[in-house]
Amino acid sequence: MCGIVGYIGHREAYSIVLKGLQRLEYRGYDSAGIALYDGEELNLCKTKGKVSDLKDKFEETATSTKGTVGIGHTRWATHGVPNDVNSHPHYSNSGNLVIIHNGIIENYDTLKKELIKRGYTFESDTDTEVLVNLIEDVMVNEKVKLGKAVQIALNQSVGAYAIAVFDKRKPNELVVARLGSPLAIGIGENEFFIASDASPFIEYTSNAIYLEDGEMAVVRTQKQIKVRKIHDDSLVDPYVQELQLNLEQIEKGGYEHFMLKEIYEQPNAIIDTYRGRMLVNEGIVRMAGVDDNIERLANAKRILIVACGTSWHAGLVAEYIFEDFARIPVEVEYASEFRYRNPIIYENDVVIAISQSGETADTMAAIKLAKEKGAFVFGVCNVVGSSISRESHAGAYTHAGPEIGVASTKAFTTQITVLTMIALKLAKHRGTISDSDFRYHLQELDRIPAKISKVLEANDHIKLIADKYKEAPNCLYLGRGYNFPVALEGALKLKEISYIHAEGYPAAEMKHGPIALIDEQMPVVVIATKKGHYEKVVSNIQEIKSRKGKIIGIVTEGDEAVRDLADYVIEIPETIESLTPLLTTIPLQLLSYHIAVMLGKNVDQPRNLAKSVTVE
Ligand code: M6R
Repeated sequence: MCGIVGYIGHREAYSIVLKGLQRLEYRGYDSAGIALYDGEELNLCKTKGKVSDLKDKFEETATSTKGTVGIGHTRWATHGVPNDVNSHPHYSNSGNLVIIHNGIIENYDTLKKELIKRGYTFESDTDTEVLVNLIEDVMVNEKVKLGKAVQIALNQSVGAYAIAVFDKRKPNELVVARLGSPLAIGIGENEFFIASDASPFIEYTSNAIYLEDGEMAVVRTQKQIKVRKIHDDSLVDPYVQELQLNLEQIEKGGYEHFMLKEIYEQPNAIIDTYRGRMLVNEGIVRMAGVDDNIERLANAKRILIVACGTSWHAGLVAEYIFEDFARIPVEVEYASEFRYRNPIIYENDVVIAISQSGETADTMAAIKLAKEKGAFVFGVCNVVGSSISRESHAGAYTHAGPEIGVASTKAFTTQITVLTMIALKLAKHRGTISDSDFRYHLQELDRIPAKISKVLEANDHIKLIADKYKEAPNCLYLGRGYNFPVALEGALKLKEISYIHAEGYPAAEMKHGPIALIDEQMPVVVIATKKGHYEKVVSNIQEIKSRKGKIIGIVTEGDEAVRDLADYVIEIPETIESLTPLLTTIPLQLLSYHIAVMLGKNVDQPRNLAKSVTVE
């Protein structure tokens, strides 16, 4: 993780880099730094804390905020605690080079020992300071220019990186490279923007190059950009992409937090997900990635789903959907476990990788392994052009728009929407769903956005419940069938933004252990919708009630049995069972959001987390 930004051109770089860092803060926010070249000197400032702290410090201490070249970094610490010294940018020993880096240099210790033997000294505990000195060492010993030195140094480094390096003796160029961490280059008129994603430069240009893994570029003002392969020096003709992003999508639009905005965006996000793909009246689902590979997908002997966090929960929902409708066996794996086992993968297996960011390192490694073993990999990503989407053989985007809050919300519901459409398509092709059922499911999916809007109307009621339970030290979430993954997701939401310990369980498992936790202090959120094991869940609620637990029921409109037993209920409109997760998850998102706000937590940037986990 970490966000990197750079600018070289004719504008004042300071505000571009600073604003860019604010937009990338979702990637990491324990420290930040900036280096600005004012034509004579490098002004470098870095600090533990947020970009706002950096702004204050820079404006207090820097001799100037002038300069048309600058680089900046917002950090999620890997090597070395978050403090001023470990923050980026890092100087080389001579003070001529300065670097920002997102990723990990795994062999940094060996390289560092070598450099120490050659007289280099280090201030920080970071792998990045090692890399910048290695580059300097190559420049001095091999008498090469910065671009070449970066290339040689990277060929000696093992790990992942997106870097930008500046040499104050050559102030008209920046050298950038990537392997395993994203890097976009915005192209303007005699100016270039560098960033971990395109958000820092969308108001300046809609043309961008996304470097591929193993590529580097030397960007010079007044010159064409040169992209080459790091390992063999061959020149690459880069694809200049037209960006679809707009400013409004990455701003809060009047909401207090991105998370709340993204919760409220869900009705439209889901419409965007199925727009042009699901033709309800015609009874058709068109998805190029599926249509082009329909035999491969529909004839899969087994589907393996790999993902992390919330995306893994969406994968668990998909397991029910694929098995129910398409009758294909599914296994859902944490990507982080899958990649380090020696998984058995058959020729006819299909691996579905789910990832909002498309950059999660474990998921990326899992699909590389699956490909090596001959599997067909289908990616379900939100970020267009992301690494996982490019590494997959085929895929489908969720088209949810940028998700900036660290807690995933609309990513989850749009992933389920895409996976539902895929499962229905495969079911139709395999003849495991009747035509009328297929059409009925499409009609119901089409009604979901309006039903989510209805659930969102319960916001004030949910706020009251949040107020009631905000001091609880623990919380249980229970659900069965399709709503078991929703229970896991509800618990994850509460944990990650309010820091309240929460567990999700299949309701029936409660009696095998967790029931011991229940007393009058314990809030238990139970998903008890009419479809899907309703009576059994009501029995589970009785068991909680007998032990004096506090019950918050997520129920179908008009429910009476649970209302009689529960302390609070939140109603959702009726829908078919497989689509209930799209509705039941909404109150859980709002509940955790309000509790976190009431507890004064930083909802969009919870402690210790970052939006995309591009390290192991
Ligand atoms: O970008 P991805 O979907 O691959 O991210 C996976 C997880 O890191 C992510 O879902 C994480 O668990 C979220 N913070 C959950 O809200």
